[in-house]
Amino acid sequence: MKILVLGGAGYIGSHTVYRLIESGNEVVVFDNLETGHIEAVHPKAKFYKGDLRNRSEIDSVFDKEKGIDAVIHFAGYKAVGESVKKPLMYYRNNIDSTLTLCEVMNEHNVKNIVFSSSATVYGTPKSLPIKENFDVTHATNPYGETKIMIERILNDLYVSDNTWNIALLRYFNPIGAHKSGLIGENPNDIPNNLMPYIVKVANKELKELSVFGNDYDTIDGTGVRDYIHVVDLAKGHIKALNWVLNNNGIDAFNLGTGNGYSVLELVEAFKKFNNIDVPYKIVGRRDGDIASCYADASKAKDILDWSCTYNIEDMVKDSYNYVKGNK
Ligand code: NAD
Ligand code: UFG
Repeated sequence: MKILVLGGAGYIGSHTVYRLIESGNEVVVFDNLETGHIEAVHPKAKFYKGDLRNRSEIDSVFDKEKGIDAVIHFAGYKAVGESVKKPLMYYRNNIDSTLTLCEVMNEHNVKNIVFSSSATVYGTPKSLPIKENFDVTHATNPYGETKIMIERILNDLYVSDNTWNIALLRYFNPIGAHKSGLIGENPNDIPNNLMPYIVKVANKELKELSVFGNDYDTIDGTGVRDYIHVVDLAKGHIKALNWVLNNNGIDAFNLGTGNGYSVLELVEAFKKFNNIDVPYKIVGRRDGDIASCYADASKAKDILDWSCTYNIEDMVKDSYNYVKGNK
C-alpha cells in the first residue's frame, strides 16, 4: 500500500513510519518540521517539507504521488498547557490544516484516513476506565476542543459521503522509543510532557522536575495517566489502517494499556529501572489538567485485533535509552 503520513517527522509519526516500512508499505511523509525532525524520517520514506495549512503545498503532493491508498494524519500541536495560553494558535493549526486536508483528499478521491485524536476529548470522565461511548463534548482545554471539533468535522464528512473510511484513534499517553535508539521523543524547547522532562532531568540537562499538584483524588495526590509504549501505538496504526482499507464507516478507538500510573509512580519506576536519580519538587496544579485518565481498550482488541505488548519497565528504559544515545 502507498501511505501518506502527515506529521511523519514527529514523535508518533516517525515510529509509525518505521512500522509501515517494516510491514512492506511505500511511505510518503509530509511535514513542516516545526516540531518534527528530518533525521527521524525513515531513510526509505519519500519526504516533502510543507505546511498543511497551505493548500498548494499539500495539493502538489497528491498531484505528484499518484495512487495514495490512505492518509495518516498526525500533523498538529499537542500540548495541553500551551493550548490554554495560546488557544488561537491551536484552533488555527489543528482545525485549519484538517479542513484543507479533507478538501484536497476529496478532490483527489482519496477517502481513507486514520486521524490522531486524543484521550483529552473525554474531558473530565464520569467514571474510569474510559470507554469510547463516553461523552466527548467538553474538553478541559483548547487542545482537546480542537480534537473534539475535528472528530465532529470527520463525522459530518462521513454522513455527507459514506464512501469515506475514517478511524479516530484516541491515544492515551505515549512514552518510550524505538528499541534501536534511532528515534524517540525530541522536543525542541523545554518539554511540556512529563516523560521528556523526566529524561532531561535524569540526564542533568534540567535541574529538577516540577510535579503539577499533589492534591488530586488519586493514590498519592498526583495526576494518573495511561502510559503506552509508542511502538505499541505505532502497531495500532497499522491495525487501524487495515480496518479503514477493508471497511466502510467511521469509528473511534481508544489506544491505551488500561493501566493508570501517577506522576510519582512513573518517576519511581524510571529511577528504579534506570538506576538513576530524578530530583523533583511539588508545585501547583497546571491549568487544563484532570486528576485521572485511563482507557478501556477492549474495543480496539475486539475490532482491530490490537493490544499492548510493552510494560512500564520497557517504557521507562526505552525513553532513557534514546536520550542517552543522543547525548
Ligand atoms: P509531534 O509534535 O512530535 O508531531 C507532530 C508533527 O506534525 C511534527 O513533526 C510537526 O512538525 C508536524 N506539523 C505540525 N503542524 C503541521 C502543519 N501545519 N503542517 C505540516 N506539519 C505539521 O507530536 P506527536 O506526539 O507525534 O503527536 C502526533 C499527533 O498525535 C498530534 O496530532 C497529537 O495531537 C496527537 N496526540 C499526541 C499525544 C502525545 O502525548 N504525544 C497524545 C494524544 C494525541
Ligand atoms: N506533569 C507534571 N510535570 C510536568 C509535566 C507533566 O507533573 O513537567 C504531569 C501532568 O500534570 C499530568 C501528567 O504529568 O498529570 C501527564 O502530563 P503530560 O503533559 O505528559 O500529558 P497530558 O496527560 O497532559 O497530555 C498528553 C498529551 C496530549 C494527549 C493526552 C492524552 O500531551 O496530547 O496526553 O491523555 F491528548
